Amino acid sequence: MRGKISVLLAVVGLCAGAMLTVPAFAGEPLRALRGNVAGEDPDPVPPLFPVREAGRYDRAFLDQPPMIPHRVDKYEIDLKVNQCLRCHDWPDNVREKAPLISVSHYYDRAGTKQDKVAGQRWFCTQCHAPQVDAKPLVTNRFQPATGK
Ligand code: HEC
Ligand code: HEC
Repeated sequence: MRGKISVLLAVVGLCAGAMLTVPAFAGEPLRALRGNVAGEDPDPVPPLFPVREAGRYDRAFLDQPPMIPHRVDKYEIDLKVNQCLRCHDWPDNVREKAPLISVSHYYDRAGTKQDKVAGQRWFCTQCHAPQVDAKPLVTNRFQPATGK
C-alpha cells in the first residue's frame, strides 16, 4: 500500500512539475533551433514497397480469390462508389479488356442470381489483395495445393 501511495505521489509530482515548466507560447514568434530559415522541400518518400504489376498471379489453391496484379490505391470503394467495377463489371469489362468478376459474385446470399454484383462481394479488397516486393515479416512454409 505504501509503495502504491509513493508511486501515486511521484506521478502527481511529475505532472505538477510538467505544468510549471510549460512555457507560455501566447504571442511569442515561433523560433526554430537553426534560426528562421525557410523550410526546404521535404525529400520525396522513397518507394519502399512498389506494387508488383505483373500479368496474372497463379492461384495457390482452387477457389483462391486471385491476387490483384495492379495498383489499387486510386480506386475508391465506399458505400456508394466502387471504382473496380468500372473495369471488372459486365459489360464494361469488355471495353476495358479486364477479366470479368466471377459469376459467383452475382449471386446474393439467398443464392438468387442478380444483374448487379452482390452486396457481400462489394468490398473487393476484403478478399483480393495487391502484391508488393517486400521481405516476408515472418518465415512462411506455405506450399500451394497440388490438386492431387
Ligand atoms: C482501369 C481498369 C481497372 C480497374 C479500375 C481495376 N482493374 Fe483489376 N484488372 C484490370 C486488368 C486490365 C486486369 C488484367 C491484367 C492482366 O491480365 O495483365 C486486372 C486484373 C485484376 C485481377 C486478377 C484477376 C485474375 O483472374 O487473375 C483482380 C483480382 C483485380 N484486377 C481486382 C481489382 C480490384 C479489387 C480493383 C479495385 C480496387 C480493380 N481490379 C480495379 C483492370 C482494372
Ligand atoms: C468474399 C470474397 C470476395 C469478394 C468480396 C470479392 N471477390 Fe472476387 N473472387 C473471390 C473468389 C473466391 C474468386 C475465385 C473463385 C470464384 O470464381 O468465385 C474470385 C474471383 C474473381 C475474379 C476472377 C474471375 C475469373 O473468372 O477468373 C475477379 C476478376 C474478381 N474476383 C474481381 C472482384 C472484384 C472487382 C470484386 C469487388 C467488386 C470482388 N472480386 C469481390 C472472392 C471475392
